[in-house]
Amino acid sequence: MSGEDAPPQQQKPEEQSKQEAKSSEEPKAAEPKQQQQEPKAEPQAETPAAAEATGAEKPSAAATASEEEVQFTYRALVLSGYGGYDKVKLQVKKGKPALKAGDVLVRVKACGLNFADLLGRQGLYDRLPSPPVTPGMECSGVVEAVGEEVTDRKVGDKVLVICRNGLWQEVVAVPTDHTFLMPEGMSFEEAAALLINYITAYMILFDFGNLRPNQSVLIHMAAGGVGIAATQLCKTVKDVTVFGTASASKHEVISQGGVTHPIDYRTRDYVEEIRKISPKGLDIVLDPLGGSDTNKGFNLLKPMGKLITYGAANVLTGPKKNLFAVAKSWYNHFSVNVQSLMNSNKAVCGFHLGYLDGEFELVAQVANKVLELYGQGKIKPRVDSTWHFEQVGDAMRRMQERNNVGKVILLPEPKKEEEKKEEPKKEEEKKEEKKDKKEEKKEEKKKEEPKKEEN
Ligand SMILES: NC(=O)c1ccc[n+]([C@@H]2O[C@H](COP(=O)([O-])OP(=O)(O)OC[C@H]3O[C@@H](n4cnc5c(N)ncnc54)[C@H](OP(=O)(O)O)[C@@H]3O)[C@@H](O)[C@H]2O)c1
Repeated sequence: MSGEDAPPQQQKPEEQSKQEAKSSEEPKAAEPKQQQQEPKAEPQAETPAAAEATGAEKPSAAATASEEEVQFTYRALVLSGYGGYDKVKLQVKKGKPALKAGDVLVRVKACGLNFADLLGRQGLYDRLPSPPVTPGMECSGVVEAVGEEVTDRKVGDKVLVICRNGLWQEVVAVPTDHTFLMPEGMSFEEAAALLINYITAYMILFDFGNLRPNQSVLIHMAAGGVGIAATQLCKTVKDVTVFGTASASKHEVISQGGVTHPIDYRTRDYVEEIRKISPKGLDIVLDPLGGSDTNKGFNLLKPMGKLITYGAANVLTGPKKNLFAVAKSWYNHFSVNVQSLMNSNKAVCGFHLGYLDGEFELVAQVANKVLELYGQGKIKPRVDSTWHFEQVGDAMRRMQERNNVGKVILLPEPKKEEEKKEEPKKEEEKKEEKKDKKEEKKEEKKKEEPKKEEN
């Protein structure tokens, strides 16, 4: 592993940027092994020594840093500036994350990649502090140490973690109430895929949507993390009709997952398709797109229908910020006056987990309900692919180029030497295959030519 020492996360951005400028281990493109938001806390990441240096709040006296803690290093992903895939760098931070009395130290095993992380990289997600900063809103791992006031977690517990940012690193110190015990049988990858997608899907469908039997729901981005979560949750209610938009290649999977009417929004007008099947419209429209799609969603509602808007995916058109797309989305944004809302008998709701900072108890209640549903076998996160930290650029590209079906997961553990060696081999094999196919075609042509002449 290469890479210079980088400062721990949670230092003041100015201080961090000075040091991080000299540090970085560039991720290298490679194949995968084979998809906001949240609460107030951000992980702690400073030894008392480091805290002193930065002037940050000091941890308890009991936690005086040992030499070992000061020398401790760990891998972390750092957003170094806004822009393309190369802006997220793998770095090595120094100094064990400091543990406050109510914190637990977690050895991270898997992290979730969210759509907001793509927006954040382009400077389009206002809940992510400005770079340099470690992104990452959810992860799973094993408790390695507990603060002196922690009674409900112990060393060795497997946990799911949710925080506003800062979780894309090998170890994190987080408030214990931002952790949840992993149910029996859940993998670390599944655990890293669960919290944000299912909490969001649950709150928009049930808290705002008030979904009931025999209703109809439109789910956009139906093959993505939130889309699959919402579909599974719809299935927990009797006779719900799900309309789901997704690229055609993903229809088989989403149909099997519970989407009643998959619609290829790339080649079809989804409004027309829905009207053909359900002329009166829909009970609930979930809108993660924004811009003109919010208007379309509102118009698709039946009387007493609800539009829940929770994203602005339309602003993302490529690896770098597209000001034209941002302006277009803003120009087409939905607005309604209360009189016409009243006369149309419709509701419009806005949901943003990232702004539920002050309501963590509410969020935790939903997290526990979702974990219960997992325990009952009613929901199961679908992991699309796993990527080592070195491959974060490729992981982001997979989601941004619309290739994922389910959740994209990042793994802090370094890529094994054997895997690295296998890759060139795979490339060689591919080249060989191409060569063979070309040869085969040539042979076929040769065989056909005499026939033509005969005719
Ligand atoms: N408000 C909240 O608290 C909250 C929380 C979580 C997520 N969200 C929102 O929910 C939506 C889904 O998030 P997610 O994390 O589950 O991501 P995701 O759905 O896994 O995102 C990737 C998939 O979305 C589809 N897509 C549609 N428009 C896209 C675009 N402009 N760029 C790239 N992909 C696009 C693609 O599938 P197709 O090939 O089928 O198009 C792609 O494979 C996002 O808008 C996100 O911001 C909001």
